[in-house]
Amino acid sequence: MRKLAVVNMKGGVGKTATAIHIAAGLATRGQRVLLLDADPQGNIGHTLRLRPVHTFEELMTGEASLADVALRDVRPGLDVVVSTPAAFSLERRLAGEAQRETILTRRLKGCLQYDAVVIDTSPAMNLLTYNALLFAEGLVIPVGMDLMAVIGARQTLDGVLQVRELWPERRLDILAVLPTSVHRGNHATRATMEALERDPAVGKYVFQPGIRQCIDLSYATASHQTIWEYAPRSRAAEDYMKLLDHIVLGSAENKTSGDHYAAEERSAAPALERSAASPA
Ligand SMILES: Nc1ncnc2c1ncn2[C@@H]1O[C@H](COP(=O)(O)OP(=O)(O)O)[C@@H](O)[C@H]1O
Ligand SMILES: [Mg+2]
Repeated sequence: MRKLAVVNMKGGVGKTATAIHIAAGLATRGQRVLLLDADPQGNIGHTLRLRPVHTFEELMTGEASLADVALRDVRPGLDVVVSTPAAFSLERRLAGEAQRETILTRRLKGCLQYDAVVIDTSPAMNLLTYNALLFAEGLVIPVGMDLMAVIGARQTLDGVLQVRELWPERRLDILAVLPTSVHRGNHATRATMEALERDPAVGKYVFQPGIRQCIDLSYATASHQTIWEYAPRSRAAEDYMKLLDHIVLGSAENKTSGDHYAAEERSAAPALERSAASPA
């Protein structure tokens, strides 16, 4: 089973869009997928217009089981655990629990029927995000195209390093630092890409060409659809497919290290960049 989380301490960088498209994309490729929203803002439920009876909050407190909270077949092969603002209180309510960073891992013990679990997280290194990091084995870190992106990516990697230090036996690969809202004609994009590539901590993970800026992604959200449902010929539809290939390829070849994926992708990057440079 793949255990993936989408993380970045910054908000508005495309985490939710990326989590939804990784999960929905894997499901369209025939996998059984669980998409879990660990962000109390509950954007996944809004985006896919889901009305849950039970939520992530109850899963975490133990009031409901995974079987109770998972909404089945939101799309063929895709189950979803939705969050609501009620989950904001979890930080306080779980503060006294033993081994509170691994509550989610224990609650998801029964998830073996899935081929992949994808977790969306909030823009903070809080208890819920730690729980996601301690469940996940592969991370995708979306970054927007502004100069704060490098700082956000680095802070996020620092959080990952902290987890690796505290729990050295846990596998936690960086599958991609994923540039989002990429607009290559734009100065901010070029400057941010350069800064990301040059950064000694972040550079080796950057997945090129990333996800191009695509207004259809907003329209897809407004119409409660994935990009492949709303605009299958759009740039974002194409780019998210490439990200899926990258994630699935890593799995199929059973790579042992996230660094390895990144190295391979980077050698493929010039060709991808050339195709992205042509007007879309
Ligand atoms: N590649 C993209 N092109 C254009 N807009 C995007 C792109 N990726 C995300 N967005 C938009 O940016 C906003 C923030 O994205 P979201 O996934 O909610 O970020 P986060 O979960 O990190 O806060 C949303 O309105 C989304 O539609
Ligand atoms: Mg979000």
